[in-house]
Amino acid sequence: MKNIAIFASGSGSNAENIANYFANSDYAQVSVIVANNPNAYVLERAKKLGIESITVTKSQFMEADTLIAELKERNIDFIVLAGFLLLVPQKYIDAYPGRIVNIHPALLPKHGGKGMYGSHVHESVVAACDTESGITIHLIDGNYDKGTTFFQATCPVLPTDTPDDVAQKVHALEYEHFPHVIEEILHTLDK
Ligand code: GAR
Repeated sequence: MKNIAIFASGSGSNAENIANYFANSDYAQVSVIVANNPNAYVLERAKKLGIESITVTKSQFMEADTLIAELKERNIDFIVLAGFLLLVPQKYIDAYPGRIVNIHPALLPKHGGKGMYGSHVHESVVAACDTESGITIHLIDGNYDKGTTFFQATCPVLPTDTPDDVAQKVHALEYEHFPHVIEEILHTLDK
């Protein structure tokens, strides 16, 4: 059984969707959810799902050694960033090379970088009058929203769409694709 850790900072709707996807799998499971904010709603979701959670402060997260040791103790194989807003220090990448993926709610390299998260991304897409947006699932490499892209999916953006409309379309793509893509990436690591 592969053990997945999900890192999240806010609502955690993707974390819940991924946990449910793997709930009946005999291949992989979400074993722990890590939050960097004690008020993040993802912690309520973890409780309801019966999944262990770990809450860290920003400085505990940046220190890295303690959390990495906790992940290793739980035999975590793979880390998924699902709405996680802190830049991940190199120590995690060294501990989990090629095994940390992020989802970005736009078509990178557009609308990425520091400060580009959640609604800011969709506001940027609408302000740019883009005719499409989407999701990017990529490996992390120590810079915001960089690293090898595994998967992108697109949705149309209409001239009348508000940032909230775009967010809804992008969330739908995330729920549809992210769990499958995680599973596919896990299988490539077996080879
Ligand atoms: C998701 O749309 C995710 O793509 C985005 O935050 C949202 C979290 O929603 N991530 C970023 O913007 C990272 N740069 P959720 O907490 O309901 O899963």
